[in-house]
Amino acid sequence: MQAFTYRNQTLHVEDVSVADLAETHGTPLYVYSRNYFLRQLTELRQAFAAVDPLICYSVKANSNLSVIKTFAGAGAGVDIVSGGELFRARRAGVDASKIVFAGVGKTHSEIEAALREDIRFFTVESEGEVERISECAVRLGTVGRIAFRVNPDVDPQTHRYISTGKQENKFGMDPARVRQAFKRAAELPGVEPVGLHLHIGSQILNADPFVEAIHKVTPLCHELREQYDTFKTLDIGGGIGIVYEPGDQQLKPATLAERLLPLLQELDLQIVMEPGRYLAGEGGILVTRVQYVKDSYRKKFFVVDAAMNDLLRPSFYQAYHPIVAVRETGETVMGDVVGPICESGDFLAQDRTLPDVPADALLAVHCAGAYGFTMASNYNSRPRPAEILVDGNNARVIRERENLDDLIRGEKMED
Ligand code: LLP
Repeated sequence: MQAFTYRNQTLHVEDVSVADLAETHGTPLYVYSRNYFLRQLTELRQAFAAVDPLICYSVKANSNLSVIKTFAGAGAGVDIVSGGELFRARRAGVDASKIVFAGVGKTHSEIEAALREDIRFFTVESEGEVERISECAVRLGTVGRIAFRVNPDVDPQTHRYISTGKQENKFGMDPARVRQAFKRAAELPGVEPVGLHLHIGSQILNADPFVEAIHKVTPLCHELREQYDTFKTLDIGGGIGIVYEPGDQQLKPATLAERLLPLLQELDLQIVMEPGRYLAGEGGILVTRVQYVKDSYRKKFFVVDAAMNDLLRPSFYQAYHPIVAVRETGETVMGDVVGPICESGDFLAQDRTLPDVPADALLAVHCAGAYGFTMASNYNSRPRPAEILVDGNNARVIRERENLDDLIRGEKMED
C-alpha cells in the first residue's frame, strides 16, 4: 500500500483524491492515512518481535481520538504526558494496563487521576515526584508502579530542542541517583519500583545513540535485577526519526533492532517502546490553498491559507517539510511558502525549489502526521483546521474545523 500517490496527475491519500477533500472540507486541512499508521506499527512490532515489546504510541505526536483508537485497536498501548492525554487515551478506549505516564512536572491531580485508573506505570524523573506519588497512593489506598527515567548523558545528534538525554537537559536522573532513589522507593509505601526508562530525544536517524544509551544502563539493570524482585521492565522510549529532507536516511526498525536486540535479549526484561513520530509522521499531510503569488526583489512568495499556527515545526525548529502541488506540475521556481500571520517567522518553506503554481492552486505539506495538529494554536484568532482520516476509499472527518464561536469559548466580556 502506497499512502500518497498521483493518479490522473492528482495527489491521492490511499484511494481518495486530495483535491476532492479540499473541495468538500475546505483548507487548511489535515489528512491522514489510517493504513500507513497501521503499517508502521506492524513494521516496528515485527522488527522487535524477539523481545515482544509493548509498543506504547506516544500520544503527543497526534492525539486525535480516532488516531489513538487506530493504534490501540491494533494492540498498542500509549505513552502519555498529561492528565489531558490520560483523558483522551481512556476516551479512545485504551486499556489502562497499557498506559505509561511520563513528564517532569506531574501535578497532584494528574497523579491521582492516573492512580485511580491504575495505569501500567509512571516514569518518574525526580525524588520529589516519587514522594508525591507515594503520598497520593497512600491517600487513595492504592499502589503506583514507577519506572525511573535515567538521563544517560548521550548525544542523540538531533535538534537541540528535542534532545533529552544529555546532562544539561531537564529530563531523567543520573544513574547514581537512580540507584539511591530506587532503594528508597522500595521502602516507601504506595509505590512499587518496577523498572527503568530511557528517552534520549526525537527525530533520531542513527542507531548509535540508542545503543550507547542502553549500554550505559545495562550495569544498573543487572544490579537492580539482582536486588529487587519488582524490577521487571526497561522502557526504551521513542525517538526514531523519519525522512523529512532529501538526504535524510531512514533508520529502519530492522536496522535498529539488529543493533539493539542482542543487548535487550541479554537483559531479559519486559521491553516497552514509545514511538510517536515514526508511527504517525509520514502518514499525514497538511493541505493548503495558495491565496496570492507575489514577486518581491529576487524571489517569489506563495502566500497560502495555512500558517505557523497550523504547523509550527518550520518556524519553531527550522524544520524542513516537503511541499508538493496537489495537481502535478512540471514547472518549478525558487521561493518561499508563507502564511498570513503577521510575523516573518511565519513560513512553511524558505528559499526552496517549489512547484510553480498559480493562485488558487492546492499544495500539500508532507510529514505532517506527527507534531502537526497537536502543536497548532489559535494565534491571530485563526480557527484550527479539520482533520480527516482516510481508510481505502473512505474519508471520515475525525475533527471538525473550528468555527468563530470556538475561538471565544469560555471568554467573558466585562459589562
Ligand atoms: N517518550 C517520551 C518520554 C517523549 O518525551 C517523547 C517525545 C516520545 C516518547 C516520542 O518521541 P518520538 O518517537 O515522537 O520521537 N515537537 C517536536 C518533538 C518533541 C518530542 C517530545 N517528546 C517536533 O515537532 O519535532
